[in-house]
Amino acid sequence: MSDSTIPASVEIVDTVSVIGLGLIGGSFAKALKENGAARRVVGFDRSPDELTLGLSMGVIDDAASSLKQAVECADVVVLAVPVRAVEAVLTDVKRCFKENAILTDVGSVKGSFVKAVENVFADIAPEDRPIIVPGHPIAGSEKSGVAAANSSLFSNHKVILTPLSERNPQAVAQISAMWSSCGATVLEMGVDHHDDVLAATSHLPHLIAFSLVDTLAGEGDSKEIFKYAAGGFRDFTRIAASDPVMWSDIFLSNSASTLKVLDHFADDLAALRDAIANQDSKTLLGVFTRAKAARDHFSRILSGQAYTTIMNTKNVIFKMKPGGEVKGVIRVAGDKSMSHRSIMLGSLADGVTEVEGFLEGEDSLATLQAFRDMGVVIEGPDEGRVKIYGVGVNGLKQPPGPIYLGNSGTGMRLFAGLLAGQTFDTELTGDASLSTRPMERVAAPLRLMGAVIETGDQGRPPMKIKGSSPLKGMHYDMPMASAQVKSCLLLAGIYAEGETSVTEPAPTRDHTERMLNGFGYPVRREGATASLVGGGSLKATKIDVPADISSAAFFMVAASITPGAHLTLKHVGMNPTRVGIINILRAMGGKIEVSNESIVGGEPVADLTVSYSPLKGINIPEDQVPLAIDEFPVLFIAAVCAEGKTVLTGAEELRVKESDRIQVMADGLKALGVETLVTPDGIEIEGSEIGGGSVYSHGDHRIAMSFAVASLRAKGEIIINDCANVATSFPNFEALAKQVGMQISVEHE
Ligand code: S3P
Repeated sequence: MSDSTIPASVEIVDTVSVIGLGLIGGSFAKALKENGAARRVVGFDRSPDELTLGLSMGVIDDAASSLKQAVECADVVVLAVPVRAVEAVLTDVKRCFKENAILTDVGSVKGSFVKAVENVFADIAPEDRPIIVPGHPIAGSEKSGVAAANSSLFSNHKVILTPLSERNPQAVAQISAMWSSCGATVLEMGVDHHDDVLAATSHLPHLIAFSLVDTLAGEGDSKEIFKYAAGGFRDFTRIAASDPVMWSDIFLSNSASTLKVLDHFADDLAALRDAIANQDSKTLLGVFTRAKAARDHFSRILSGQAYTTIMNTKNVIFKMKPGGEVKGVIRVAGDKSMSHRSIMLGSLADGVTEVEGFLEGEDSLATLQAFRDMGVVIEGPDEGRVKIYGVGVNGLKQPPGPIYLGNSGTGMRLFAGLLAGQTFDTELTGDASLSTRPMERVAAPLRLMGAVIETGDQGRPPMKIKGSSPLKGMHYDMPMASAQVKSCLLLAGIYAEGETSVTEPAPTRDHTERMLNGFGYPVRREGATASLVGGGSLKATKIDVPADISSAAFFMVAASITPGAHLTLKHVGMNPTRVGIINILRAMGGKIEVSNESIVGGEPVADLTVSYSPLKGINIPEDQVPLAIDEFPVLFIAAVCAEGKTVLTGAEELRVKESDRIQVMADGLKALGVETLVTPDGIEIEGSEIGGGSVYSHGDHRIAMSFAVASLRAKGEIIINDCANVATSFPNFEALAKQVGMQISVEHE
């Protein structure tokens, strides 16, 4: 499917004739008239009453006295008659079209229209036929007749054109322009594809609604049913009041596509029947939770909130007024690394795992959806609570299509390890940012274990993983300090024969090891090496995901650089492999108090109170780099606000994160008047004043939030472009930033 491009050169049509003044024909005629898309709109209907009513209502300019007259005078003929009437109507007037006239229609089935046109014009020379542009507005209502004509019926609706192979671009553009003038978005697709899609999204739902109402109306005392039928019945059956003749036509015209999807549905319905008969709550919950997730996603698309739709259509802009306060008590969003892992391990466990504090960000939601697609029943998330009905280490099923992991490198790399050991093939894809990130760092060692994996161009996504490849445990010395690579290999190790061990050049986050132990799967740690033996099983458990220290970091720096600031961050994850931000800020003179320390589910947790304190520049110790790997963008802001020079080295990994975080931060700082010195593995930053200006996040959530923090000390307004991705890790950043006193406003362009 593609958006059609409408040449600006399209001229206004002189005469449009609409044949059939029903709801759609009447509404289109009225909209064309009101929007000045045709100089004259002529109507014809086989019912003289409808025609007279249309004329008196101002739906049309003129009423044709015959079908022939309507066709003869028109530059564009719009056929708005029932789909099964097309052939008969056209046969009467096939020799009456003006030279170069365009014939279009509004029918819900395109295959039958095209067939009818072919039959009718078979004996007419191509140059004497009208130019055919089949069309279908995806709009309507259960009302019918010209009295219901509504000129805004198509506004913000889609219209699908299915141009034929001998397409005439100018004619397609002309019909596109007519629909666009009515406020519709015009798309193009092939005839067969259109009929398959519509059979599933429109025809089948109508069939079910008609059938259900008929069944219930015939059930015992139907008056009883209608008396007690509440919202569910009303919502579900509204479309059963649609025009019976039109719909019976549609099913008979689109029978092949409808039967395909109807058979599929009948099988699924039979499976639900069995599940009820067998008291099989797992099957019911599986279907219902998957359906709920899909419907929730659809609702968010409808309201323009889904990350994928925001990313595709909107530039989300943070407008940051200079100055502001940082005060109060907040709890930031749940830890992203642990949220991913809780779903993965909970799915592989035997039994039901309950998670609290789950991050409802787009990245971890993509992981959750992927496991649903592999047959795992997952309830929630509901205010951070998730219930996972584990299927056991060997219980995953092949997903119906490629697994989409959004923006998440963690998702893709950990999935690669886990899927390398399955019996089915899989493909992993991601968004534009993820599609540029290096995947050979996991694919190459997995191949050494026996996995069969293909990466895309230059070792980037998509990743194609072959199932049923026997894995053998191995030892791997990681060339880079990466928790993702380590975790990937350990997850593959569960499916491998013998022992898998990974040695890291510097300590990296160890949530995978801790959580596996929490699920009763022993992981040994000896010095820099983590190891496990394949073939074991996981036992369901409870997981409390603490607040993400990487999200808290934005507010820790915000409080540290803002005079008068005093902020408490509750229940923050304090895993020793993640606390580089605290160590570095303290070394710079930051004031951070730790209280309420406890261990929750094998992970240390505490409250942090951060107050303003003048900072000084430091040489950041290289051993802190992996411990603060995600916090550098915001630490660069702290460095700009510090007195003297801050030097970062040994941080080349920053160049392959969601963006090249060294270069992108240096470019943004430059736009705000701050000069830095970029080096291959780090940056040098002198403390200086921050000006106002416009910066780009380059699809990187942490860059966006870092520049938001910079505004607290800026001299002018900072405009941050491309911020939709903040939803991947910190969906309520805007709300919390406002709550503490930052001056943020968010715009969608
Ligand atoms: C993560 C590991 C880190 C980190 C990422 C999350 C994880 O990546 O940057 O945000 O959850 O394992 P690397 O392992 O590539 O350093």
